[in-house]
Amino acid sequence: MTPLSFTFSRRNFLKSTGAAFVVAGSFPLAGRTQQNGAINPLRIPAQLEGRDEGGVQVYDLTMRKGISTFFEGYETETLGLNGDYLGPTLRMRDGETVRINVTNTIGETSTLHWHGMHLPAKMDGGPHQPIRDGETWSPEFTVKQKAAALWYHSHQMEKTAEHVWRGLAGMVWIDDAESDTIELPKTYGTDDLPLVLHDRRFASDGSMEYRAGMREMMMGMIGNVPLANGTVDPYFDATTEKLRLRILNGSNATFYYLGLDNDQPFTQVASDGGFLETPVEMTRLLLGPAERAEIVIDLEPGQVVSLRNISNALPFRFLEIRAAETLTPSPAIPARLTDIEWLKPEDAVVTRRFDMETRMGGMMGGGGNAHTINGKVMDMMRIDETVKMGDTEIWEIRNVSGMPHVWHMHDVQFQILDRNGKPPLANEMARKDAVTLRGGEVVRLIMRFEDYADPDTPFMYHCHILEHEDAGMMGQFVVV
Ligand code: C2O
Ligand code: CU
Ligand code: CU
Repeated sequence: MTPLSFTFSRRNFLKSTGAAFVVAGSFPLAGRTQQNGAINPLRIPAQLEGRDEGGVQVYDLTMRKGISTFFEGYETETLGLNGDYLGPTLRMRDGETVRINVTNTIGETSTLHWHGMHLPAKMDGGPHQPIRDGETWSPEFTVKQKAAALWYHSHQMEKTAEHVWRGLAGMVWIDDAESDTIELPKTYGTDDLPLVLHDRRFASDGSMEYRAGMREMMMGMIGNVPLANGTVDPYFDATTEKLRLRILNGSNATFYYLGLDNDQPFTQVASDGGFLETPVEMTRLLLGPAERAEIVIDLEPGQVVSLRNISNALPFRFLEIRAAETLTPSPAIPARLTDIEWLKPEDAVVTRRFDMETRMGGMMGGGGNAHTINGKVMDMMRIDETVKMGDTEIWEIRNVSGMPHVWHMHDVQFQILDRNGKPPLANEMARKDAVTLRGGEVVRLIMRFEDYADPDTPFMYHCHILEHEDAGMMGQFVVV
């Protein structure tokens, strides 16, 4: 697999980092200057467990303004949930009924979407469930899915990119009977870490304002500083032989091509929607915006190894892992992790086709919208597709542009039937809710729409490059 080179081309990167940010000669903007040891302990988001109220697990989340210190001596205005930047890791269990009280205090309307969750459309937190400033929205639903590392983020119409950029995102981890007993590292913050990766563009005064001009609306908003869990240049002190990282590409628009600096192999055990059937050993992992991967890294006592974005144009370190001199033993990774019920193409009642298109002249030349799906831009009043509950369908997604896009759809976890007519990669043989398509690629997805019908409330499908989504590269489907 090759990195998405043009996203990372030296020219683009240098352009996007034109205003060099240097703090007292220490902090490196791009990886090439990250030559010394990492400087900050990795932040581990708090866990938020539900509190039992008459059999319902209740969570309280407050979206608020915050002040964050990313660089010593600099204060940065941010948004967060129950904190200054980003939010806690919600822990939920399959089969439980949950209610989340989401209170908005950010001074403007926003929403909170449960990315990757299978739930009723009214509980989805998309553009049709706005939460006005000062109000509380309390979706309630029963968790009906396999153990997985999902996430939540703002989904306010035309403001998603800005709200996520400023910090309105976090993870949701689902557990089930299978994940309870599986022999994988599972001690939160010790050998099982959430790792929200993204990049932000900082100005020399430490601010990270969201300013998307024409260029950003076209290519996506790319930062000049990589962060993990909101920490700049972090390290983690590992105490176990195996370390499980639940990685989310939480960036607005950047594709990460991850690897370890010594090229040692690691093992992917889960994708967007839960465990792979069998572990996949690899040395490189491509993650587009919104995609997740859980990987397990083997450590030697005393070893220092870094998780990096590997690219000739843009190498940088996301996380330095420092293994203790004595490590607690970890069990071997099971040879089989789960069983996936593979959907069969012959069971599909229909094939729908979606063209993801970017016209370079469009926005720049003032000739209308640049990013479209099937030639259309998002209209909240228009239902694009109507699906029957219980049906299995094939959705064929074509990227008819020259740049990569990320297809995401709400409500379901899909399976990839093929990519450009060929079988998907081993680590794509999984339940997924987001898939990267390079320019010109075609994927066929298969999914079954179950449990929740609502003719009046649509689910979204869209490109998860958030600037593209906000520009209208989004459509709506209802399940009836
Ligand atoms: Cu992660 Cu419609 O979103
Ligand atoms: Cu989503
Ligand atoms: Cu896109």
